[in-house]
Amino acid sequence: MKPGARRSFLKKTLVASGALLAWPWLAHGQGQSGLPAGLLAQQGDIFSFVRQQLLLADGLVYLNTGSLGPSPRWTIDRIIEIMHQLEANPVTENWGPLGRQMELAREKAAGFLGAATDEIVLTRNTTEGLSLVGASLHLQKGDEILTTNHEHPGGLVGLRYLARKAGARLVEIPMPMPALSQEEVLDVIEQHLNKHTKMLMLSHVSTITGMRMPWPAIASLVQGRDILLVADGAQAPGMLAVDVKALGVDVYATSGHKWLLGPKETGVVYFKKAIQDRIKPVFTDSGYATYSASSGTRNVANIIALGATFDWLQKVGMPAIEAHVMQLADYAYQRLAALPGVELLSPAAPELRTALVSIRLTKANNRQVFQALLEQGIVVKVLPKYNALRFSHHLFNTTNDVDILLQALEKLV
Ligand SMILES: Cc1ncc(COP(=O)(O)O)c(C=O)c1O
Repeated sequence: MKPGARRSFLKKTLVASGALLAWPWLAHGQGQSGLPAGLLAQQGDIFSFVRQQLLLADGLVYLNTGSLGPSPRWTIDRIIEIMHQLEANPVTENWGPLGRQMELAREKAAGFLGAATDEIVLTRNTTEGLSLVGASLHLQKGDEILTTNHEHPGGLVGLRYLARKAGARLVEIPMPMPALSQEEVLDVIEQHLNKHTKMLMLSHVSTITGMRMPWPAIASLVQGRDILLVADGAQAPGMLAVDVKALGVDVYATSGHKWLLGPKETGVVYFKKAIQDRIKPVFTDSGYATYSASSGTRNVANIIALGATFDWLQKVGMPAIEAHVMQLADYAYQRLAALPGVELLSPAAPELRTALVSIRLTKANNRQVFQALLEQGIVVKVLPKYNALRFSHHLFNTTNDVDILLQALEKLV
């Protein structure tokens, strides 16, 4: 079936099945129904219905939420609404009703991550959140910052800056690929800890392999050693239900515009209360409020719409989203494992798995395959260093998307 025909078939099927009537509150212009979060997600094929609420081009198979997620109409319409309200009376709105709504968005971010509101700063992206740590933490010459060789440049930039500033050593742990078990990951981290280690910065979910770092166990491992624990959460919230307290981290940074499906150039960073005297980013100097003398004027529409996106995700229900994306990624994993010319970089162990699946191509060139897929309307992420491709599975993806990808890959790899 051609992409356009596929799309219209799906649309017809959904209308016929009554899906559009079953979940009207997810669509724009419908008030929230007041139904408890998660309830609707149990009622059938909500995930196909969600797809109808996105602005993705007809027939596009979008498997790169890990780079940038498509926002639902709910979010986009909210941005436009706020812009109109703001522009009708900028000063009065920005420091009046809309200003108060920005603070509400911060509260929602806190609730979504299991933090207190005064532990949350709204940023522009993960890179900014993690750079705040690098710019405001004080280390000594000879101290060590421990990270891995699988981190994203957005996570590393602040670490490199901090290492330069302090004369500290940045140590990259070579990560197994794929890792076999949590124990293997914990062992390799433990081998690199020493009396000089002052900070540990690891992704929650690896941007390369999609591996879920065993965070609570890592926090237990370093307990009592006075090591600042920083998690790069760019690839987790919105894909997984995240509770920063349960993870045991001191700092957690994420982006609104990936798995959270929020407005572009939005982010959240959590600073645990107990470490706030050690990390004082200059733009929080006059407090953590969204607008303050030190943080200055903000993008009010994006921030409020990020808050609305948290509502939207919670209405679908994070447990249901997580279950869906994990099931889908497992389906993709099994099919990819059977494909000749492919080596899986993502771990097999269920406790290390996520909704990201990466493969190394053993016979084909990844850029050429990426381009050929793009020409067929299939969007994936290329990982140049590893001759690899990465596939993101989110709540709007279906097994049909995976089948289309596999059909294309069979001819290309
Ligand atoms: C693990 C990780 N950290 C940081 C980033 C950078 O995100 P942003 O551009 O939103 O700052 C990414 C982006 O893909 C990522 O995967």
